[in-house]
Amino acid sequence: MDIAIIGSGYVGLVTGACLADVRHNVICVDNDQRKVERLQKGVIPIYEPGLEEVVHRNVSANRLRFTTSTAEGVANSQIIFIAVPTPPQPDGSVDLTYIEKVAREIAEVLKEYRVIVDKSTVPVKTGEKVAETIRRYTKSAVEFDVVSNPEFLREGCAVSDLMNPDRIVIGSNSDRALALMKKVYEPFIAPIMVTDVNSAELIKHAANSFLALKISYINAISAICEASGADVERVADGIGADKRIGRSFLNAGIGYGGSCFPKDVAAFIAISEQLGAPFTLLREVQRVNQTQLDRFIKKIKDTLWVLKDKRIAVWGLTFKPDTDDVRNSVAIDLVTQLLKEGAIVRAYDPKGVEKVEELKLCHGAHLAKSAMEAVENAEALVLATEWGEFERVDLVQVRDRMHTPLIFDGRNLFDPKTMKELGFTYFGIGRADLH
Ligand SMILES: NC(=O)c1ccc[n+]([C@@H]2O[C@H](COP(=O)([O-])OP(=O)(O)OC[C@H]3O[C@@H](n4cnc5c(N)ncnc54)[C@H](O)[C@@H]3O)[C@@H](O)[C@H]2O)c1
Repeated sequence: MDIAIIGSGYVGLVTGACLADVRHNVICVDNDQRKVERLQKGVIPIYEPGLEEVVHRNVSANRLRFTTSTAEGVANSQIIFIAVPTPPQPDGSVDLTYIEKVAREIAEVLKEYRVIVDKSTVPVKTGEKVAETIRRYTKSAVEFDVVSNPEFLREGCAVSDLMNPDRIVIGSNSDRALALMKKVYEPFIAPIMVTDVNSAELIKHAANSFLALKISYINAISAICEASGADVERVADGIGADKRIGRSFLNAGIGYGGSCFPKDVAAFIAISEQLGAPFTLLREVQRVNQTQLDRFIKKIKDTLWVLKDKRIAVWGLTFKPDTDDVRNSVAIDLVTQLLKEGAIVRAYDPKGVEKVEELKLCHGAHLAKSAMEAVENAEALVLATEWGEFERVDLVQVRDRMHTPLIFDGRNLFDPKTMKELGFTYFGIGRADLH
């Protein structure tokens, strides 16, 4: 199939590369000229395990190319995926201007039948608006269909998720479009779930909100554990062993962040209210999430007393491990608050530093080149993102380099007993603090 992807970010680039890898011809379009120039030179603008190799392999095989021209993408493709941002507005509803703009851009160059696929995460009924916009802006009467095909990849394992999805959701109200979409996904071994457009859009918001709810659920339990002396890790194991519940997304921590969960929960609340069916449970999910970081910072303050001029090392800046994505990262919020209190922050992240600098975040923090450099002479270490590198670190060396071996483990990465034996004063989330 000939496919265009409009928007070559975390979703668009990975989707384009993986569709090319199963032998489709793919044009990735992006209006960020610098990004396209870098991609044309073989430079991958994001870190995602395995992505570089897939991109290079398919560029060499002439199945994948990059352009800034939407017209070129539309002219040469049967299927056009939209993978542009859908950021939140201050009231939580989605800013759909990027989607609307792409719909107009497609309409202006549409000459023959195309399937326009929304891969961006959008509120229910957006497909209807996209179709309406394209109809309004096309120069002549031309046939097209709008399909919803939400993306469920996880950053950090996006290539593998795209190649081996749990399911592929195709929301289509047209048999013609559906037949073409099935051909796109023919090479993938995964159940294809066909729905109407509205249901497919809703599935994505409902799925992400449910995952956020699971995180807030265990975080709320972590507060009860702290108040009662129970251990949230054991509780999570105990409830997670039930197949109806499952252990994943039951890891207590400093809350969920990233470019998806916070905005998708807020968007789902907003659209539910607009539709007159307010989903109030999700407001509590948001509240628990915010409280979790507040409680953690309080624990740091209660222990260190005054933060001003305290040397604090922070490990992890990305919103989760194995990605360079720092958008809406709780770790960044944490650093920002420590800096506001006057602490001297030395932060280290295996992959996130470049994006922190690019987005001008954590202003005033020293960005260390290694985990060991960050902890040198520190009066406390805060673990904010659970990178594997931190799990494998030589903790004896860490303790010896620190001024005072105090650790606040925001992701329950370390074992409290081991930490105590090593001479650390250890604080986790929802576990009996050992000191
Ligand atoms: N990141 C994830 O893990 C993830 C997972 C599933 C779904 N999503 C959804 O996918 C969508 C994209 O997310 P992302 O993380 O890839 O965003 P991103 O910001 O990484 O990428 C979006 C890209 O679109 C480009 N763009 C914007 N307007 C354009 C236009 N008019 N023409 C061409 N290119 C344009 C931008 O330059 C950027 O490169 C969002 O709706 C998001 O919610 C994201």
